[in-house]
Amino acid sequence: MLRQFVRRIHYSQRFYEAQVELTSVRYAGVKRGNYAQLSEKHVQQFERILPKERVLTDPSDVQSYNVDWLRMVRGASQVVLRPKTTEEVSAILQYCNEECLAVCPQGGNTGLVGGSVPVFDEVILSTSLMNNIIGLDELSGVLTCQAGCVLENLETYLSERGFMMPLDLGAKGTCQIGGNVSTNAGGIRLIRYGSLQGSILGVEAVKADGEVIDCLNSLKKDNTGYHLKHLFIGSEGTLGIVTKIAVHCPPSPKAVNVAFLGLEKFEDVLQTFQNARRDLGEILSSCEMMDRLSLDAAVTNLKLKQPIGDFPFYMLIETSGSNGIHDEEKLTSFLDNSLETGVVLDGTVASEPSKIKMFWSLREGVTEGLLQDGYVFKYDISLPHANFYSIVPELQARLSLNQVKRVCGYGHVGDGNLHLNITVPQYDSEVMKIVEPFVFEWTSKLKGSVSAEHGIGFKKTQYIHFSKSQSSLNLMTNIKQLMDPKGILNPYKVLPADH
Ligand code: FAD
Ligand code: MLT
Ligand code: ZN
Repeated sequence: MLRQFVRRIHYSQRFYEAQVELTSVRYAGVKRGNYAQLSEKHVQQFERILPKERVLTDPSDVQSYNVDWLRMVRGASQVVLRPKTTEEVSAILQYCNEECLAVCPQGGNTGLVGGSVPVFDEVILSTSLMNNIIGLDELSGVLTCQAGCVLENLETYLSERGFMMPLDLGAKGTCQIGGNVSTNAGGIRLIRYGSLQGSILGVEAVKADGEVIDCLNSLKKDNTGYHLKHLFIGSEGTLGIVTKIAVHCPPSPKAVNVAFLGLEKFEDVLQTFQNARRDLGEILSSCEMMDRLSLDAAVTNLKLKQPIGDFPFYMLIETSGSNGIHDEEKLTSFLDNSLETGVVLDGTVASEPSKIKMFWSLREGVTEGLLQDGYVFKYDISLPHANFYSIVPELQARLSLNQVKRVCGYGHVGDGNLHLNITVPQYDSEVMKIVEPFVFEWTSKLKGSVSAEHGIGFKKTQYIHFSKSQSSLNLMTNIKQLMDPKGILNPYKVLPADH
């Protein structure tokens, strides 16, 4: 649906070099680990494991794999490997482990925390060609596929068979299910279908030493020992490379409606969320908010049409159910009540797919719209509902408009997940000093999470302790040592340097 927002942009090498500073320069404090340097001998061995055309070494082929979607970090890898099978992944890792070559797994490269590109010269292992759909059990609704399947392709495959994916996000046209599992991605339907980890029934993954761990269960219930698949869900490629997935998919809803609402105050947003939960109950499938500056990023920068007038806050409330008449009655009564009491000032409802798509493109287009301002400082925090928005005006007060273009907030209000974004014409370390660690300290004081859904990646390793206890971090370190003793898998990511 939103392919235009997440297109993989193929700029010239000069563009990348001019626009994106090398990570090793911008973050000069990060030291390269004691890994082997890529040599001709290594490339020759990769060309024995994979056909030559799936070993990319030409700098013009490799460059786009070195830069993340936000154009925030840039690695200097000289090789991209494109396996098609688990056996090929296994052979690559076994060899890299023996040779002590660091590896960066990459799916669709839409990650927002700098986890999907190398920090230095790690070998990039791209799963893009691992894109086979293995099958769908229409009785259980379990889909089994390879990790490189693009989320939107899975959605299309399923919808033709009366099912849907239990997650949806703006990057769906590019992100891959393996990347989604490795980040435990959230998205706009978490309020209805829960965290992705609950829908993932099985995972096949390859450990750093090449051993294939087969947890590709497709059972809803299985309490035989440790739930090992969870080692790979959300571990961002630091414990293994996910190669196959079994995911439990709900049936497609028969009726979908989306309301686009305008509101005066953030308290009204909270009241509307509470009312929606109470009045819409089981048919509520999404509850999102944007402030005016967020919507403006999509409307002005992407030239999208705004469906209602200007308001300080906007909400998208989606219902999905099995009985259109019943759902419409519920939604109409909820909206009438919201307008009569003045909690909502204006609104419009879409039932036809093209209009629904248009509403969602405004919400999902915010990410791309903000990037067009220049550089984006992006924060993805979980907060108690009562304190959900207060950091936005706080930062607006701390930052002057001479320093920044925009300070705005949007996100999955139903899940308590705020996306706080600050845009500047170009990367500015002075702005960064005002914002970090302030945002993380604020979040920690409110017992929130410094990463609600995007993960830790490279960008947040030094702040993980705001949300994880020392004992948890120690256990994470022990697990990493057990599974990847040489530390070749996605180094400099997730765990802080002192671990
Ligand atoms: P990548 O970006 O390639 O990788 C992400 C991480 O996973 C990296 O650490 C990488 O090393 C690792 N990895 C990737 N594949 C594998 C594998 N097979 N095995 C092991 N490790 C692997 N995220 C949300 O949670 N919710 C949203 O609503 C959301 N919306 C977005 C909207 C836009 C427009 C964009 C650009 C991004 C959005 N994201 C969102 C972030 C991103 O899309 C998700 O994190 C997504 O799950 C990443 O998938 P990917 O295939 O692009 O993974
Ligand atoms: C979203 O909800 O739009 C995504 O998580 C991306 C973002 O934070 O911009
Ligand atoms: Zn999000």
